[in-house]
Amino acid sequence: MDWFIENEKGMNVYYPLLYSLILSQKVKMAFEFGVGFSTQVMLEALTFTGGRLISCDFRGTDALLGGGYDVGLLKEQAERWKCYQLSSESALKKLTDERFDFVLHDGAHDKAQVEQDLASITPRMNSGSLIVIHDTTHPSYDLRKGVGVKRELTRMTFPKYMGLTVVQII
Ligand SMILES: C[S@@+](CC[C@H](N)C(=O)[O-])C[C@H]1O[C@@H](n2cnc3c(N)ncnc32)[C@H](O)[C@@H]1O
Repeated sequence: MDWFIENEKGMNVYYPLLYSLILSQKVKMAFEFGVGFSTQVMLEALTFTGGRLISCDFRGTDALLGGGYDVGLLKEQAERWKCYQLSSESALKKLTDERFDFVLHDGAHDKAQVEQDLASITPRMNSGSLIVIHDTTHPSYDLRKGVGVKRELTRMTFPKYMGLTVVQII
């Protein structure tokens, strides 16, 4: 559980939030844009909820797993984790009838692609489910306006460390 306290930069402080949201929502099916330590955190939480994760990233998972992640743990979790080594656009085309109750967006960081990703994933989300979007207050990315989430009931932005926005889908 080092990741609860280890690092005060970027996404790191949000990992416990990610973990708690998955537990509190009793998430069964999650989708992740942008693989990394978040994948490990989400999989650990999904172990308790009996849920599954589909991730996408056009970087190779080998490179990602070489970056200090717990390779053993990720291998153990293989049965509950499917990872598409593809752009989000291509990965989303691989989906069939899956519906999600939790989405993390930490993939592309250009506004057009983020909006496209969110517009594509929201129709596949259950009512009451959550999308967590990272870097929403990053000065370079201009993600604050119109993040492209249709069916939005409510949102909350945690402003520190480039911002994390949690959107609940109606
Ligand atoms: C900030 S990193 C993800 C970090 C990870 N969520 C974590 O917490 O450790 C962003 C990742 O998104 C991937 N990415 C960027 N644009 C993408 C796209 N359009 N489709 C798929 N992956 C993308 C990059 O290759 C990179 O690995």
